[in-house]
Parts: sequence; structure tokens; C-alpha cells
Amino acid sequence: MRHSLLLLFTLISVVVFGQEAEVALQAKAEAPTISKHIYGQFAEHLGRSIYDGFYRNVKIREDIVLALKKIQVPNLRWPGGCFADEYHWRDGIGAKAKRPVRINTTWGMVEENNSFGTHEFLELCEKIGCEPYFAGNVGTGTPLEMANWIEYLNSDSKSTLANERRKNGHPEPFGVSFWGVGNESWGCGGDMTPEHYVDLYKQYASFCETYPGSPKLKKIVSGANSEDYNWTEVCMKNIHWSQMWGLSLHYYTLIKGHWPPSGSATSFGEDEYFSGLKNALKMEEVVSKHSAIMDKYDPQKKVALLVDEWGIWTAQEPGQPKDWLFQQNSLRDALIAASTLNIFNNHADRVRVANLAQTVNVIHSVILTKGEQMELTPSYYVFDLMKVHQDAKLIPLTINAPDYYYNGESIKAVNASASIKDGATNITLVNLDPVKEITIYIDLNGSSISGQLLTAPKINSFNDFGKMPEVKLAAFNAAKFENGKLKAVLPPKSVVQLAVK
Ligand code: AHR
Repeated sequence: MRHSLLLLFTLISVVVFGQEAEVALQAKAEAPTISKHIYGQFAEHLGRSIYDGFYRNVKIREDIVLALKKIQVPNLRWPGGCFADEYHWRDGIGAKAKRPVRINTTWGMVEENNSFGTHEFLELCEKIGCEPYFAGNVGTGTPLEMANWIEYLNSDSKSTLANERRKNGHPEPFGVSFWGVGNESWGCGGDMTPEHYVDLYKQYASFCETYPGSPKLKKIVSGANSEDYNWTEVCMKNIHWSQMWGLSLHYYTLIKGHWPPSGSATSFGEDEYFSGLKNALKMEEVVSKHSAIMDKYDPQKKVALLVDEWGIWTAQEPGQPKDWLFQQNSLRDALIAASTLNIFNNHADRVRVANLAQTVNVIHSVILTKGEQMELTPSYYVFDLMKVHQDAKLIPLTINAPDYYYNGESIKAVNASASIKDGATNITLVNLDPVKEITIYIDLNGSSISGQLLTAPKINSFNDFGKMPEVKLAAFNAAKFENGKLKAVLPPKSVVQLAVK
């Protein structure tokens, strides 16, 4: 009886007063800085990511470069993904006409002519103004092949390899720092046990050198798949922190939560909307549990956690070649991107790198192309909004928010993260409820508020080629200071970015 009365009262309050939420900011001197590298991207030789994506008619696309510069992409991971463990770097250097043609056995058995290789990738990074993040080949490579690649890239000596780089057009060392030792070694990278991988990691990493004048090599352990906590345990237990800079983790949002990817990227109802959001929010638990294992072996948090593949993975668009993974991107995916970045920001003490999979024309992309046309997806705008958090000091927060119920299940309707930089407090607020606006009160005062809003008419609105974009940024004016608090009215299914001075 008491329970029913409470429920009735809650329902009446919601109808009469609307939904309300509260955010309490807890600025702390010891709070971590949010590494800009949380906003990283990923490009693999897969479908139309590189060829006919970043690289068209044997040239880097300048429109893509400009768009990525605008969102301040801090690092780009390459050449895979699964492709990394079948990639031999010597295939992609020197005169293009002489480069061998291989078969991309992982992604569609297509011919790989290697016209985009090491120098082209580094030119792309230079144009974007981002750091390269290489994934080295453990699955079909050798420690010597990996060691030689690093020497070719980073040595300023007169060694034969360094001279070969000079002959190929780059006199100065490239100064590459992020170095992944394999990719998904538990799966496409060699189907290994964690014990076997740990031994191989130590063998390969022993020969990955830092060259004089180049930055210290950040060696990265190929980490766990989603909830495989044993993988993290075995790696952390057996690899000393001094032998690694970081440990990776891959977590994809799957509709209904299981493999293989299913559901349409644009044609879905509330069922798949809710399922996508719920599985994306699970990142909080996954990151927390892997971090807790890392804390056990590395309480001082010297080792970084790199979520170097994340995003929503649905069925590919109809009519695409097999295994090309071309996927549209809707407002739902933008809400997933913002919620995930909020989770990473709030875990900035451990998560220091993350890479959305993948930047152009594959899975959860920020850019899609069709011939010469280029379209910015809803998720692109999330990275544009949230770039203010890059290298800013985290403001930890707690949220008291209503639930969003669907079909007997619930998730928190609001998530958020906040940081401070250059005298501005920047807050990202996400309202996941598809129909209810939520009034939020934040214990924050100031002299000015500016805001931006990302939303659209439908949960599955998307930006299509040759049409006016349905999902784009707009000014947000529904925030003000009231009774010593900041009050903002969040529209349903929206991301709101506030800057308070
Ligand atoms: O991003 C697509 C694929 O997903 C990557 O190649 C692989 O690492 C992961 O399984």
C-alpha cells in the first residue's frame, strides 16, 4: 500500500512538475587531468576507411583533414584492428609501383595494393596535427620486424634503416611514441591464451627501443575483450609496470548485447534505442572492474588503460560488400558517444587514451563519404562539443537523476561530466529519455553561461548525403542562474554543452 502511494505520488510529481535532476560538483585539487588522448580516433585497412575514405585517387582528402582538425583529433590508431596482425610494414614503403599487392584476408579478401603505408599515414597525422598510434604485428610478424619498423621510424643515426627512411623522403626521425604490441591477441590477433600472449609481449617489448632524440616509446599491451577480466588479471600480474606504458581494452556496444552485430543503424524503434543505450552505459562497469584489477597490481596508477576500440556496432548497411562494415550513424549513436566520453572523463585517473572505432566509413564513424561527397555524422558533433575537456582538470560530480524506463528495464536518464580550463567550467549533460525534458539543477554560480545543443526530431535521425543535415549543433538558451544554482532544461534525447564563467 505504502509502495503504491509512493509510486502514485512520484507519477503525479512527474506530470505536474516535470522531471528534475541534480548535479553536485566536487572540485578537488587532487582530481586528475582529462588526457586529450581520450578523444582519439582509429583508422584500419577495412572497407572504405582508408581507400576511398581518407585516401582517394592516391591523395589524402583535404576535406576530411579539415574536419578532423576542427575537432582537434589528438591521436589516430593505425593500421588495425585485426589488419595489424597481418600487416608487414615493408610492403608499404618505397616507390608505390613496386609495392606488393597482398590480400586483406580479414576484411573481405580484397586486394591491398599498399599505396597507403607508413609515410602516407604519418603525413595524414601531420596534416591533422595528431599523434600517430601504431599497432605492431605480433600475430604473423617477428620481434625483429617490429624492432626494425621502430628503428626505421625513430632513429636519427646513420643506420641502414634510418638512411632508407631518408631515401624515402623523410630526413628527420618521425618521433613515434604510442606503440601497440599486437591487437586482440585473444582473437583475430592469434587466438592466444593470456599466458602465451604475456610471454610474447615481453619478448617483443624487449626489442622495442627508444631512440636518442625520439620520445620515450609508450609500449601498449594488447588488452582484454569486454568483460574478460582474467585477461587483465594475467597481464597485470605478469608484466611489471616498468615494462608497459599501458594496457588496452576493447568494448563495443552491441544491440541486444551479443555477437554478431545486429540491428539497423537507422531503421529502429525504441526497443533497439534502449538496448543500444543500456549496453553502451555498461562501459562504466567494464572500465571500473578492469581498473580495480589494475589498482591491485599498480595502486599508483602508473599504467594507463587505453580503450582503444569502442563504439556502437550494428549490422552493416544493406548492399555493401561482405565484411566492409559500413554503418550509418544516428542521433542514438551521438548520445552513446557523449555518454561514453562522459564515462571516460570521469575515469580520467586511469583511462588516458581511447579510440572511436572507426573514424571514416566504418562502424561508429564521425565522417562518411560517397564519392567526392562528405557528411559529418551526429557523432562528429559530439567530439566537436566535448573537445573543451581535452587536457582540462576533471571536476568529479554526483548526479541524482530520474530513471528512463522501457519494457520493465531502466537506465539513468541523465549522465554528465565536467572540467575546468582557462577559467571556464565546461559541463556535458546527456538526456537519454526519448520523450521527456529534464530540468537539471547544478550547484554552480557565475557571471555568464553559454550553451550548445545537439538533438534532432527523431531518435534515429541521421545526416544523409545530398540532404540538409537533420542532426547538427544549435545554440542552447535554456540555462540560467536561479537561487544560487544553475538551472537548465534539457530537451529529450539531447546533448547539452555548457560553458560557465
Ligand atoms: O573495428 C573493427 C574490428 O573490431 C577490429 O579490426 C578488431 O580489432 C575488432 O574486433
